[in-house]
Amino acid sequence: MLGQLLLAASRSTLVRRSVSGMPLTRKVVDRFVAGETTQEAVTAIQRLADAKLAVTVDHLGEETRDSAAATATAKAYITLMGALREAGVSAEASVKLSAVGQAFDEKMALEHAREICAASPMVTLDMEDHTTVDSTLGILAELRKDFPQTGVAIQAYLHRTEGDLRDLAGEGSRVRLVKGAYREPASVAHQNKNDVDKAYVRALRILMAGKGYPMVATHDDRIISITELLADRFGRSFGDYEYQMLYGIRTDRQEALAAAGHTVRVYVPYGDDWYGYFMRRLAERPANVAFFLRALGGK
Ligand code: FDA
Repeated sequence: MLGQLLLAASRSTLVRRSVSGMPLTRKVVDRFVAGETTQEAVTAIQRLADAKLAVTVDHLGEETRDSAAATATAKAYITLMGALREAGVSAEASVKLSAVGQAFDEKMALEHAREICAASPMVTLDMEDHTTVDSTLGILAELRKDFPQTGVAIQAYLHRTEGDLRDLAGEGSRVRLVKGAYREPASVAHQNKNDVDKAYVRALRILMAGKGYPMVATHDDRIISITELLADRFGRSFGDYEYQMLYGIRTDRQEALAAAGHTVRVYVPYGDDWYGYFMRRLAERPANVAFFLRALGGK
């Protein structure tokens, strides 16, 4: 219930204004966001690289309806990739197509995504609400003609996902499997956590049995144990799949998996448009809301 309210708030301009203006919000946001500037992102990524963690970096922003903002987002990725090269660190990019024009000009989104692919070692397209899935998969297919390693996030909670995965589990594909973070109607997505978890395991099985490279994006220990069983069953060793987790969430688990020899990639968001991302993280876990309220109360 609280999660649903927070997801609704994540799309409210009024709540966005008041939360963004609260003096202590920034302190709490810092737990989930690596900073606002290119330099802060480079520093955070360097720190993760030193801890033997791989990175995919997200320039925060979504649902842009302004072509100047879409162009600025693409430029920000290109600038960051240049700064990372200069600093001698490598990171993949995660891109929300709605930040580069998908909502009003799909062609523009494709062109910006191409520019980001050309500047980055590897790109994974994030998946946003269900109305964008067909468009995102269409853009993915176009990008893969020139950048075959481009990956995509697929949301286990959507009823359509098993069908999509059968098309995507082939040779060379890179799929990041997530549970799904948006408020969706029952007609398109499982609503109950148990059903989402079961759907995740079915989807994971398709990916682990397939020929692509599964990116298992979760903080859920039960799913991690099941991934290990499936890796055994389908003869996948450490380099044949990877784990991904969000910046600031279960850092100890990230380090433990990396120390055991797994590739662990941390999703590092940076930039000043953190509101939607931050609210989805609060919605995932009531304890994060308590943390937020305590900070507002000065504790
Ligand atoms: P679940 O929510 O069941 O949590 C399992 C356990 O993990 C919890 O009990 C808790 O211990 C810990 N945990 C989970 N979330 C936490 C939080 N916010 N704070 C603290 N602890 C937490 N979604 C989407 O729709 N499109 C996308 O493109 C992406 N991209 C993406 C990339 C990566 C790398 C990750 C890890 C996740 C995403 N997501 C996403 C988000 C995803 O859909 C999902 O909402 C979150 O990962 C939470 O789900 P879990 O699988 O972690 O399980």
